[in-house]
Amino acid sequence: MKVAISGASGKTGFRIVEEALKKGLKVKKIVRKNSNVKEDSKNSETLRVSLNDKDALDKALKNVDALIIATGARASLDLTGPAKVDALGVFRQLQSCKRVGIKRVILVSSLCTGKLFHPLNLFGLILIWKKIGENYLRNPSFEWTIIRPGGLKETEKIDSENIDYTKEDTQIKGSIPRRLVAKCCIDSLINKGSINKIIEVTSSSENKKISFKKAMQTI
Ligand SMILES: NC(=O)c1ccc[n+]([C@@H]2O[C@H](COP(=O)([O-])OP(=O)(O)OC[C@H]3O[C@@H](n4cnc5c(N)ncnc54)[C@H](OP(=O)(O)O)[C@@H]3O)[C@@H](O)[C@H]2O)c1
Repeated sequence: MKVAISGASGKTGFRIVEEALKKGLKVKKIVRKNSNVKEDSKNSETLRVSLNDKDALDKALKNVDALIIATGARASLDLTGPAKVDALGVFRQLQSCKRVGIKRVILVSSLCTGKLFHPLNLFGLILIWKKIGENYLRNPSFEWTIIRPGGLKETEKIDSENIDYTKEDTQIKGSIPRRLVAKCCIDSLINKGSINKIIEVTSSSENKKISFKKAMQTI
């Protein structure tokens, strides 16, 4: 299977690439012109395109079986970032998927999307724009999965962390290492039980261990 991963230069994106490669998948990293990405390997290549360039995006997404979207507005003083990246950027990627015939799409979103009164919205109403991005994907044209993580952590210490997988709008706080989010993306890709689901994820050492496959039976 060949998977395209957009936002592959991000802190979650590069880990999704690593987890995909560990599973023996072929990877196309979709990044911006000046993004910093790790070197390519036998099974990975880097395509530098603007999400605004239809033709280049279509070319980059040709001949892949699935797209994992890990783009997200980087914190900055430009408060239009979330509208441009988390809504319009997702829309443009999905339009390209339709044109080139990609059906399977996994989106990294966030807990609390759609909530108006939330401190995260001080950054350009990000939770509203993320919900709009999600809604573009929840469409019969796609076999979609939306992963909504809690606050993202850089730690690679994940051995004692167990994931709490729940359905839409059930968790409002908590955190999770980016590494576990990356694993969830690849688990979603591999398990058909994740199709057409919103999966909220946080982690803690106090949660009971459960396999991804089993968790999907309850969501
Ligand atoms: N931070 C949190 O606690 C938190 C919690 C829940 C959900 N999330 C969401 O989880 C996702 C991953 O977060 P993260 O912190 O791992 O991401 P990150 O490190 O900030 O990476 C963001 C990625 O998006 C790309 N990007 C940004 N603007 C772009 C544009 N205009 N065109 C194309 N690509 C663009 C970046 O490319 P460059 O490398 O070129 O900048 C980078 O690859 C994001 O959607 C984020 O909103 C975050």
